[in-house]
Amino acid sequence: MTYIVVESCIKCKYMDCVEVCPVDCFYEGENMLVIHPDECIDCGVCEPECPVDAIKPDTEPGLEKLLKLNADFAKIWPNITQKKEPPADAKAWEDVPNKLETQFSPNPGTGD
Ligand code: SF4
Ligand code: F3S
Repeated sequence: MTYIVVESCIKCKYMDCVEVCPVDCFYEGENMLVIHPDECIDCGVCEPECPVDAIKPDTEPGLEKLLKLNADFAKIWPNITQKKEPPADAKAWEDVPNKLETQFSPNPGTGD
């Protein structure tokens, strides 16, 4: 198994998660982060750190599409290990539905 980042991260991108990961397996897109499934050691430390509950074990049902998204983009986005300033409008995006369909960006972030 692995932990993965799910839809609620999109446009919120608080980055509290990256500070606690012992193996630095978070990767940064323009609007969200992903976890590299082959690098994550399943420690679970990051899960309670996310203010919007965007980190889940992939054993939860219905996460196949997001597992693939994490695996695919972790290969091409830059590594991130230090928290930066979240988006100024992050709060406004917390409860917006269907962000994966409407707001996901394949563009990379800037990383560390
Ligand atoms: Fe990192 Fe542990 Fe979270 Fe995996 S579960 S991303 S190893 S902090
Ligand atoms: Fe995203 Fe939560 Fe980390 S919003 S960047 S998974 S702390």
